[in-house]
Parts: sequence; structure tokens; C-alpha cells
Amino acid sequence: MSIIIINNFGQYNHRISRTLSYLGIDNKLLPNTTSLEQLKELEPEGIILGGGPSIERIGNCKEIIENMDVPILGICLGHQLIASCFGGQTESAEIESYAQIDINIIESAGLFDQMGDSVKVWASHKDEVVTLPDCFDIIADSDKCSIEAIKHKDKPIYGIQFHPEVQHTPRGGEIFENFYKICKEYWMFKKERVWINMMMDTDKFIDEAVASIKDEVQDEKVIIALSGGVDSSVASVLASKAIGNQLEAIFVDHGLLRKNEAKEVEETFKDRLNFKLVNAEDEFIEALEGITDPEKKREIIGHKFIEVFEREAKKSGAKYLLQGTIAPDWIESEGNIKSHHNLTLPDGLVLDIIEPLRELYKDEVREVGTALGLPDTIVHRQPFPGPGLAVRVLGDITKEKLEICREANAILNKFVEEEGLDKDLWQYFVVLTNSKVTGVKGDQRDFGYLVVIRMVQSFDAMTANVPDLPWDFLHNVSQEITAKVPEITHVSLSLSNKPPSTIEFE
Ligand code: XMP
Repeated sequence: MSIIIINNFGQYNHRISRTLSYLGIDNKLLPNTTSLEQLKELEPEGIILGGGPSIERIGNCKEIIENMDVPILGICLGHQLIASCFGGQTESAEIESYAQIDINIIESAGLFDQMGDSVKVWASHKDEVVTLPDCFDIIADSDKCSIEAIKHKDKPIYGIQFHPEVQHTPRGGEIFENFYKICKEYWMFKKERVWINMMMDTDKFIDEAVASIKDEVQDEKVIIALSGGVDSSVASVLASKAIGNQLEAIFVDHGLLRKNEAKEVEETFKDRLNFKLVNAEDEFIEALEGITDPEKKREIIGHKFIEVFEREAKKSGAKYLLQGTIAPDWIESEGNIKSHHNLTLPDGLVLDIIEPLRELYKDEVREVGTALGLPDTIVHRQPFPGPGLAVRVLGDITKEKLEICREANAILNKFVEEEGLDKDLWQYFVVLTNSKVTGVKGDQRDFGYLVVIRMVQSFDAMTANVPDLPWDFLHNVSQEITAKVPEITHVSLSLSNKPPSTIEFE
């Protein structure tokens, strides 16, 4: 396997090959007329599309961009072809650039990893990408060109307008090394996926997991903290299929849940599982009284949760603790937790841990959930943070504020689902700020809460963006919230991506 460089007959294409060889990266320079079949047979680790003089001589470049499932880096013409394949536009630049310029690095990870905020590069082009497709982010710009480098939002596809292969780009070698690193990481991930996919015949997985849980647990009791989220729900139903009522699923209502959430979770699980709802609302709210620091809130909620759960664990007489850990929870985490580890409770009670979903990714967990008969409302649930509304009610927590947040959030949820926007959103929720603002209702001054609507798209919660949202929808949500929740006088919309913001407000 090596990197294939597609020669678009630009003056520097051979230099790409020389630079890679100099860096010790195995590569082949092939003409852009090379067929897809030939390319696939070579099993490239990655593809670099070189620059070239003419859009008329691009050979099979478009087919390559559209069909090769490998990391791709486009340089100059290659970059423009990538943008155009995904719906972007290229035009002649007002000022032709043939000079060494400084580019500003917007995203310093990935292609520009460890390269700081700005680097000198060689620009040599008269055309440039002027409209970027929605599925791309700009990762570098310059005074001369606002789209110097781009990255596909979901795929390992990159484009750069300048030439890293020439000496006037002194740190060009680092860009190629970073691209090669991206290729290696991609294939490592792919190998894991292939391995998991080979295992992932859903019915077979369920049968094997059920047999393995039965075999391990024998006649002992098992306990799980069921949150109602996808992972713990699927783990619970899977284990219950194996050991029935030997599993006790504890759902702790900490009073920081969304509207009707406890009732809905109970309805979903009470006939499927040995389900126990523990109402600990007063305990949690009391412990949070007067606490405004978000991290302190998290700490208190975490400790309280363990306290409540331990109390229940002791009552249950369980020997095992079932957890909904999935692959991304441990892959790349420091010191990979072993599959069989223990939790020792303060009184010396030791719980052996069982993690039946450990090797699965989220989409596979969802498949298993569906195969086990869980409803879509659980299987495709948006993530909800453990500390719940405590990090969405800013500042101190009171039952009244939680109720206001809950009502407004339920209105947003209803509208999002009716509009069908939920499929494209990672999370959508209402934040109750700690600010009161003046309003006027029925000729009278009012002084109520300011709430913020937060709606984001994301792939893995590491980065997130605010998508285009229909104005009608936003106006309707805003009107309904102020009409139905009298304590709120003002609704605003969060427009910040992550980074620099985080998804949650606290
Ligand atoms: P942030 O706010 O860090 O959120 O951008 C990233 C994702 O993590 C969730 N989140 C949490 N989940 N406990 C959790 O279980 C927490 O304390 C917590 N804080 C944030 C958040 O909802 C988003 O999906």
C-alpha cells in the first residue's frame, strides 16, 4: 500500500512524489487517466490530486473523488475539483497569486497539526474556490484568498489552494506528514470497523451476548443504573433477555429530567424489565441548593448519584454491575479499562462489571436496540447529559426554575419533531438563563426570564455547528414559549459553534 499521486500535469506534480519519497512515504505518480478499477486494485492508503493547468485535462479525477473510499488531498486544481464535485464554485481570482504568502490556520489539528497559527506557503494560481459546499469547513485562509484550505465535515477529504511541495513552502513536508498520519489513522479505524462488521450480524451478536451473560452470571443478581439513554437501555434489555428478573434496572429520577421523562422511561421499561424507579428528587435539589458553579453542580450530582445507587445496590444483593459501555468510550482512552474490572463499594461490597456492548459503535447499538424491539424514541434519542437540566438552568437550581426550563424545552421539542428537524440535529434544547429581562404583556410591564434555544448538528460532540434553521419555525417556537410559559419574557437563539463554545451552556 502506498500513497497514489494523480498527475494532473501541473509543473509541480513530480515534486509531490519527490517530497513524499524524501519523507520516506511510499508513493506512485500515475496519470489522471488511470481507471478506478486500476486504482482500487492498488489499494492506496491515500490519494493526492496534483495541480494542473487546465480543467479540460482532468481525466478521471471526478470519478476518483466520488468513488474512492480513502483519504484524499487535493492541491490547487485538485482542491478546486474537490470543491466542485461537492457543489462548490471556482472562479478566476481578482488578483492572480504567484508569491509566497502567509496563511492563517483556522483549524490546527489534522492537516495542520502542530503548525501554529500561521505559515508561509507558495501560492501559484489564477483560479480559486469562491463558494464552498455546506459539507466542508474552511481550515485556513489568507489576505489573498478566503478559502486556502478546506476539510470535508464527515470524510477524510482535504483541499489546499497553495503548493506544499515546493521549497517556498518551507513547512510543506509537515503538511504531507500530517496527511499521511490522517491516512494511517483512517486505516486503523477501518480495520477495527471491518473486524467489528464481520462480527456484527445483529441476530448472531444478540444470541452470543445472551449466552455469554447467562454463562457468566449463573444464578447471581445483576444491577444496572438505567438512564433511559440508548446504551444503558439496550444493555438492560439485552441482559434481561438472558437472565430475566435476575437483572434489576434502577432508574434514578434526580428531579433534573425533562418533562414527562421519568414517566415515559417507566412506561417503556416496566413490562420489559425488572424496573425500579427511585424518586430522589428532593435529595438532589436539596444538595444543589445555592450552588451556582457548574463543575460543583456536576460533582454534587455525581456523588449523590453514587450514594443513591449504592443504597439500591445493597438492597438488591447483586454480585454484578451491568454497564452500557460502548467502543468509543474506551478506544483511545488512556490505559484502556480492562473488560473485567470491579467496583468496590465503600462497605467492601464488590460488584463485578459486565459490559456486553463494549465492542459496538453507536449505530450498531441502535441496530441491536431495534432488533430487541425498543421503540425509536429510545433508540434514536438525542444525548442528554447526566447532570440533566442542572447544566441548562444557569446559576442556582430551584424547582420553579427547573419547571420553567422543562415547559419551554417541551415546546421546542414538539415543534422540532413536528417540523421533522430532529433527524438532522445532534441536540436541541432550551437553556434557562439566570437573567431576567423586561417585557410587556397586556399593556403591563413584566419582568421575566430570558431563555436561549440551542440547536446543533454534530458527528461526535467534539465539534458542533448551528445549522440553517427556518425562520418561521423559530418565530413560532418563540411565540409559543412566551405565550405558554408566563415566567418567560424573552427567547433568543444561540448561534455559536463548538469550538469556541461548548454544546451545553454550563
Ligand atoms: P459539551 O457541552 O462539552 O458537550 O460540548 C458535549 C456532549 O456531552 C454532553 N455533556 C455531558 N454528558 N455529563 C454527561 O453525561 C456531563 O456532565 C456532560 N456535559 C456535557 C452534552 O450534552 C453533549 O452531548
